[in-house]
Amino acid sequence: MHQDIIKINYSKEKIEQIVKCLGEKISIDYKDKNPLFLGLLKGCLPFMTDLVKNVDIYCNLEYVKVSSYDGTHSTGNVEFKGEIPNVNNRDVILVDDILDTGRTIQAVKTKLMAMGAKSVSVCVLLDKPTGRLVDIKPDYVGGIVPNEFVVGYGLDYNEHYRNLPYIGVLKDEVYSK
Ligand code: IMP
Ligand code: MG
Repeated sequence: MHQDIIKINYSKEKIEQIVKCLGEKISIDYKDKNPLFLGLLKGCLPFMTDLVKNVDIYCNLEYVKVSSYDGTHSTGNVEFKGEIPNVNNRDVILVDDILDTGRTIQAVKTKLMAMGAKSVSVCVLLDKPTGRLVDIKPDYVGGIVPNEFVVGYGLDYNEHYRNLPYIGVLKDEVYSK
């Protein structure tokens, strides 16, 4: 275990199991729909990479960079960085690491619908329902986390720890460094 981690919420093995189930469910739901997986960078990366390996239907992959965070703090200002791919008439599956306030996903969803997407569903590895500030529920969710800040498997604290193969909580002292 990394020296900065105090506890593990989701082990590597547990994550593998969860991601496999999600991929299989999406494969059934989106059979013959050729969905467009749209990952929100950078938190989506390990999750989306593993998710699509468990999907066995025709599909496309795209990414968009958005940000709303500063350290552990959600600023509420959702910023799109760079181009948004063409989603016209597409069944889009938004992929992100965690749904917290919901503001990021809601802003992206609204934008995609305005751009002519046929449908937009939301697939997140984790849901933190206690953090929610807007009315949005994920269509596909791997697990629930309580109101604590987690890192690993895409989730970062100041751009670190995204590479951990598990999801866990940082020691208090890391925040005071
Ligand atoms: P929100 O739903 O608009 O608040 O934004 C969700 C985004 O906030 C996620 O994609 C993460 O980048 C970030 N986030 C929320 N909770 C956590 C956490 O516990 N650890 C790391 N990042 C988080
Ligand atoms: Mg993120």
